[in-house]
Amino acid sequence: MLPAAVTLVEVGPRDGLQNEAQPVAAAQKIELVHRLQQAGCREIEVTSFVSPKWVPQMADNAEVMRGIERAPGVRHAVLVPNMTGLQAALPTRPDEIVVFGAASEAFSRRNINCSVEESIERFRPVVAAALEAGIRVRAAVSTALGCPYQGEVTPDEVERVVVLMKAIGVQHCGIADTIGIGTPRRVQAVMERALKHFPLDDVSGHFHDTYGQALANILACLQMGLHVFDTSIAGLGGCPYARGATGNVASEDVVFMLHGMGIETGIDLDRLVDAGAYISDVLGRPPVSRAGRALLARRERAGAAT
Ligand code: HMG
Ligand code: MG
Repeated sequence: MLPAAVTLVEVGPRDGLQNEAQPVAAAQKIELVHRLQQAGCREIEVTSFVSPKWVPQMADNAEVMRGIERAPGVRHAVLVPNMTGLQAALPTRPDEIVVFGAASEAFSRRNINCSVEESIERFRPVVAAALEAGIRVRAAVSTALGCPYQGEVTPDEVERVVVLMKAIGVQHCGIADTIGIGTPRRVQAVMERALKHFPLDDVSGHFHDTYGQALANILACLQMGLHVFDTSIAGLGGCPYARGATGNVASEDVVFMLHGMGIETGIDLDRLVDAGAYISDVLGRPPVSRAGRALLARRERAGAAT
């Protein structure tokens, strides 16, 4: 029943670095993307074209996009909240844009300064223009398992936004546990709602690991046949408008689990660990990834023994 292969969407350069208090230079972000490409990542969320007043960490969006030497076959995605963002993104030639809405009204207002319905009306022309330009469009539905402001979020509330996203023409629907509070059965219940409206290939999971549930939630999704997941190098990440939420599930941990289960990812775990070590050095702290840390420690032991 489990998929034979899984696609990972690497969101570290965007979800990870948007949340760092310390500045990370554009050249370091570009180097990170290059290392992720070398590790075999085929889908990378590079940056977001949002307001620099709201998220100053992404103010170098165009510089980063322009600085990347694109490996063939890699899809480079950017977040876009409105037409202003799309117009800024288009000259940098993204392969995909991500419009991001929320299942909860409270989070929508805090994160993008409008109601859920208003957000859909903003996205409508953005989606149409992107599709017209031949750019793939993905949606992220935040707070699908809980909201930092409103608390509980029901599967009905999630399905409502999934339906709205489908109606404006998005091609893929990402279900996001912004605060990492979901547990496997609840995640399955929400995924079932998304699968009523999008095919299995076009539903993905985005799990922050705040409560340590992300790997279990991914396994629960695999059992349903889902095979696309967002992950973040070294476990970086969070959302500036969801205080207390920690990073996304670490890419190294997910790859370790999947390869251990005989599921292909196309990713070279050793090189992925190198990419995680690189960005962790830049940030001056060890990777959050448990597998990353264990593999680095094993390397050190092997080095000491020779
Ligand atoms: P607003 O202030 O309501 O925007 O912000 P506005 O349309 O009223 O415009 C105000 C000013 O912002 C104007 O400039 C606009 O030009 C400018 P002024 O005339 O004052 O000089 N502006 C922009 N500048 C650059 N790029 C733009 C843009 N739009 C307007 N795109 C807005 C609304 C959506 C822009 C703002 O709320 C915003 O940027 N929010 C982004 C928040 C964000 O990035 N959050 C993190 C990403 S989402 C996430 O992490 C969740 C996810 O990982 C899934 C999960 O885990 O849940 C995806
Ligand atoms: Mg996120």
